[in-house]
Amino acid sequence: MANETLTITDNRTGKTYEIPVTHGTIRAMDLRQIKGSEGDFGLMSYDPALENTASCKSKITYIDGDKGILLYRGYPIEQLAEKSDYLEVAYLLLYGELPTESQYKKWVHDITYHTIIHEKVKKFMDGYRHDAHPVGMLISTVGALSTFYPEAKEIFNSEIREIQINRLISKMPTLAAFSYRHTVGLPYVYPDNDLSYAGNFLNMMFKMTELKYKPNPVIERAIDILFILHADHEQNCSTSAMRSVGSSLPDPYSATAAAIAALYGPLHGGANEEVLHMLKEIGSKDKIPEYIKKVKAGEFRLMGFGHRVYKSYDPRAKIIKQIAHEVFEVIGKNPLLDIALELERIALEDEYFVKRRLYPNVDFYSGLIYQSMGLPTSMFTVLFAIARTSGWLSQWKEMLLDEERKIVRPRQVYLGSDRRDYVPLEERG
Ligand code: ACO
Repeated sequence: MANETLTITDNRTGKTYEIPVTHGTIRAMDLRQIKGSEGDFGLMSYDPALENTASCKSKITYIDGDKGILLYRGYPIEQLAEKSDYLEVAYLLLYGELPTESQYKKWVHDITYHTIIHEKVKKFMDGYRHDAHPVGMLISTVGALSTFYPEAKEIFNSEIREIQINRLISKMPTLAAFSYRHTVGLPYVYPDNDLSYAGNFLNMMFKMTELKYKPNPVIERAIDILFILHADHEQNCSTSAMRSVGSSLPDPYSATAAAIAALYGPLHGGANEEVLHMLKEIGSKDKIPEYIKKVKAGEFRLMGFGHRVYKSYDPRAKIIKQIAHEVFEVIGKNPLLDIALELERIALEDEYFVKRRLYPNVDFYSGLIYQSMGLPTSMFTVLFAIARTSGWLSQWKEMLLDEERKIVRPRQVYLGSDRRDYVPLEERG
């Protein structure tokens, strides 16, 4: 396209600058040449929550928030949810293409045979209080894996890097399930290599005294699809944490622990837990209008609604709503579903939500499914973390191999005190 530039006139000096526009963006560093006076540092952009700042170039995930489109490496999420499985999607995210049959077999084999964790990890998991939150346990045990694999810090050795990627994807369900078993006082269940990724996770969560755990195929598939839907979502809060922490070049276990911590908050991966609390608090359909009134008055937010990027129906929420019906047909309907459906119906007709383009997001229905499967609310973010690990690692690897990579170090607008001299304690008023 001709004339892909931006002309800026600085009214402070009357000077004009021509700045290149590439991929619909200008380089923030190109602003630095714009100086109000001699010795001025140069112009910066101010973007507190990075709402309008592209922090990287990426080839992994594409989102069109207005149209409700989500693509992994170009493939629509709807097709992947219907036809693929989580491990194949993880491969796609990490390596850019769907695997061939032999690549797929090797990949599944490698992941399956890395699922066992060092016995010492079990020992320090035992040290947590009985009521420790599983996310807290996951953050610290994932971080601690770096001490078991010290070679992991050789992040530019591709062979070593790939082994850590395999380990993280394969051990995450084991650590997650162990943290759950710890909180309910049940013995840890070791991985079963005959089962699928999702089936083995269910085995480690729920196996009791039976010799062989047989996952219910509908639930196993539902978990697998939920993992696909949560696998990546471009530069969200936890992925930005992964890239940001990763930019100082620690091992991937440490960076992943930071990403899980970012996921934990109620505005991100913790939202599905909050949705259940909210639905329970509402209690019955007739209380919904009163609840919505309070949301509109700004007393609190409708959890599972709204999204920084989607300004239409989150495509993942559509798929999850469908899975919810399938799962409930097998294991009985979650009584909170009717409240959720009615809440959605009322909200989507309400001017407040319509005007602000607030729609159900991925978390609105996922908690209901997890709860019906017998998963405690404290495990919801943990499930999200298992799924997102492949996305975090894909983004981490892309960042590491990016020729423009540098340590992340944003600027600030300093509005504090000017230089002043220290006042001894006895002289302070
Ligand atoms: N309920 C009620 N009002 C809302 C909600 C909500 N869930 N979300 C946004 N709004 C309102 C805001 O009050 C604001 O209104 P105003 O213009 O009158 O002040 C307007 O919509 C815009 O809101 P922002 O906070 O600017 O939107 P932002 O993009 O920063 O926030 C977020 C996105 C954090 C997801 C927000 O919608 C929210 O808090 N949702 C509830 C938590 C949630 O479900 N998080 C999960 C997100 S999906 C994920 O992380 C996997």
